[in-house]
Amino acid sequence: MKAFRTTSLLARQSQAPLVFSRSPYLRRYRSTVSNAKPDVSIVEVGPRDGLQNIKTQVDTSIKIELIQRLAASGLRTIEATSFVAPKWIPQLADSKEVMQHIVASGMQKSINFPVLVPNLKGFEGAAASKAQEAVLFAAASEGFSRKNTNCSVEEALTRAEDVAKACLAQGIRARGVISCIFACPYDGPTDPAKVLSVAKRFLEMGCYEVGLGDTLGIGTAADTEKLLRILLSEIPADKLAGHYHDTYGQAVANVIKSYDMGLRTFDSSVAGLGGCPHAKGATGNVATEDVVYMFERAGVATGVDLQQLSETGDWISKQVGQKNGSRAGSALVAKGQTKPAAPPSSTKVEAASPEWRVESDDGELRVSRAGNVVKVTLTRTRNGNALSNSMVEGVTNLYNTLAKDPTVFQIILNAEGKFFCTGMDLSSSGSSASGDQAVKDDYYNKVEGLFVSIMNSPQTTIAVVDGLCYGGGVGLAFACDVRLVSPKARFTMTEIKLGLSPATISRHMIREWGISFSREAMLSGRTVTPEELKGIGAVHGIASSAEDLERLLNEYLQGLRNCAPKSAAAVKELVRLGWNDPGGEEQTKYVKHVFEQMMVPGSEGEHGMAQFRKKNKNVDWGHFWSSKLSA
Ligand code: HMG
Ligand code: MG
Repeated sequence: MKAFRTTSLLARQSQAPLVFSRSPYLRRYRSTVSNAKPDVSIVEVGPRDGLQNIKTQVDTSIKIELIQRLAASGLRTIEATSFVAPKWIPQLADSKEVMQHIVASGMQKSINFPVLVPNLKGFEGAAASKAQEAVLFAAASEGFSRKNTNCSVEEALTRAEDVAKACLAQGIRARGVISCIFACPYDGPTDPAKVLSVAKRFLEMGCYEVGLGDTLGIGTAADTEKLLRILLSEIPADKLAGHYHDTYGQAVANVIKSYDMGLRTFDSSVAGLGGCPHAKGATGNVATEDVVYMFERAGVATGVDLQQLSETGDWISKQVGQKNGSRAGSALVAKGQTKPAAPPSSTKVEAASPEWRVESDDGELRVSRAGNVVKVTLTRTRNGNALSNSMVEGVTNLYNTLAKDPTVFQIILNAEGKFFCTGMDLSSSGSSASGDQAVKDDYYNKVEGLFVSIMNSPQTTIAVVDGLCYGGGVGLAFACDVRLVSPKARFTMTEIKLGLSPATISRHMIREWGISFSREAMLSGRTVTPEELKGIGAVHGIASSAEDLERLLNEYLQGLRNCAPKSAAAVKELVRLGWNDPGGEEQTKYVKHVFEQMMVPGSEGEHGMAQFRKKNKNVDWGHFWSSKLSA
C-alpha cells in the first residue's frame, strides 16, 4: 500500500494563520487571482450539474452569462454543458449554442470547458462544437446506471470506451466520473471494489483523471477515508478528483479528508446549485464558494476571487429562483450588501481575445471573422496601404456586402506595417496621376463611394490605428465610428503642402474634429497626435504600446457584446440626421419611426425589456440574433 501524502489542512492553517477581517481578506483574494498559481484545481460544474435538474427552462443567455461570470472570478475549469439526449435532460438541449458562444468568445484559450458525453452521438455533437474535453460517466451501481443511462454499468463503460477512443484520435481530452461511490438510491450501499474497478477502467481507456461522485451526498469523512484508502492503494492521488454532492452537509468535510489524503482536484457548483434527476432529495455539489473559503482560510490558493464568485452565486440563485446553497457565499454577500453584483465586463479580468478565422486574403486586404465581428486588415504595406484603385474597390465592396449581413455587428479596420494608410495613391501609376479626365472622374467616384460605404455601414465600425495616417488615410480612420490607437498613430492632412485639398474627406474631418480644430489642422498640414484627438473626443482609447492595442480592442469589443446591433444602426442614423438635417423633415420622420418600432413584437427592444425585468442587464445580443435568424 502506498503512503498517503499527509499535508493536513489544519497543519497548513497553523503554519499560516489568517486574521479574518473583511477588507484585508478581500485584498488577499485579489492578489491571489492575479498572481499565484493555485494549489488546488477547482472544477466548476454549476453550468452543467448545477442546472441540469432545474425544471423551468433557464434562458441560454443566462447560462452564457453564468459562464462568463465564473470565468471572470478566476475559475479555470468550467464544465459547460452536456451532449446527452435532450429528452432525458431537456434543460441542456442548448449545448450547441452554449459552446458556440464559448468558442466565439475565445475563452477556450485560457479556460478549460469540459462537456458531458454519454455515447458516440454525444461525442459527435461535442467534437463538432469544438469541445476540447469530454467527461465520460458511469455508475458504480446497476440500479442508478439503468435509471440514468438506460443501460448496465458494463454497457455504459463500453460506450465510454468508444467515446474515449474517438476523443484520443481527435486530440480531445477525456475525463471519467463515477456516480454513486458510497450508495445508490436503488441498490443501497456501494461496494468500494466496484468503484475501484470502474475507476481503473476509465484510466485504462485513456481518461487523464477520474472524478469520484457521491451522487446522493450521503458520505461522511469516515466513508471518504475508507474508500480512498482502497482506491489509493492502486491509483495515484493525482488521477482522482472529489465530486461530492452536499445533501447531508458533509461535502466540505469530505473535501478536507480527500485533500489530506493527497487529492488536489475538486468538483463543485456555484451556490451549491444542482441535484440529481434520479436521486430523490439529493442536493447539488458542494458549493464552490464554501470550498474556496475553506481552502483560502487554510492558506491553500484556489485562484478564485471569492467575493466576485459569491456575487455570482447570489445572482444565479435569483435567476433560477432557488435559495443560495452556499453558506460562505450567502454570508459574504450579506456583508457586502451595498455592493451590487458586478457584470463581467466591469471586472479586472482581461477580456479574452477572439479567435480570428481568416475568411479571405488577396494580398491587399485580409478579412477575418470572430463571432459577430469582422476584421478588415489593409496588408499592402509596400506602398503604405495607399488607396489604390483595387484597394478602394475591395474595401467598398466589402462594406456594402457586410451591410446586408445581419450576423455582423461590428467591423474593425486596421492595417499592417508602419502606415495605417497614406491616402490617395500618388504614385505615377496611380489613377490620381492620370491626365485623362474620365480616369480622374472614375477615381473620384470610387473614393467618394468608399467613404460613403463606411459612413453608411449599419454596423459599428472601429478603426484600430497603429501607424501613420496621411490625407485620405486620416479620412479612412475618421469615417469609422470609433478610433482606438497606439502611441505610434499620427494624423497628418498633407494635402495643403502638395497644392491639393482634402476634398472628399473634409466632411468627415470637420464632423469628427469640429470646425475650429480641423480648419487649423488642414490649413497647417501639421501632424496631430492621439492625445490631442483624445482631448477633443475624436479618439476613444490610446493603448500604452502597440502590443497593448489588442487588449484595448478586446475590452472594447467585450463591452459592445451587450449593445444591440439594430439599436446601434438606428443610433448611427439618428446621429447622421442630427448632423445632416437637424430639425428637418427627414430627422423628424426618422425619430418618430424609430420610436414606433422600438418595442414591436419580436424586436430587440421587446427582448431587452423582458430581460431587464428578469434583472438581466447584460443581454447577449449575438445569442438573441442567432436564435432569431435560425428560427
Ligand atoms: P436511450 O434513450 O437509451 O438512447 O438513452 P437511444 O440510443 O435509444 O436514443 C434515444 C434518443 O435519444 C434518440 O433520438 C437518439 O438519437 C437520442 P430519437 O430517435 O428518439 O429522436 N440520443 C441523443 N441525442 C443527443 N445527444 C446524445 C444522444 N444519445 C441518444 N448524446 C442515453 C441513452 C445515454 C443517451 C440517455 O440515457 C442519456 O442521455 N442519459 C444522460 C442522462 C444525464 O445526463 N444524467 C445526468 C448526468 S450524470 C450525473 O449528473 C452524475 C455526475 O454528476 C456524477 C455524480 O454526481 O454522480 C456526472
Ligand atoms: Mg454530480
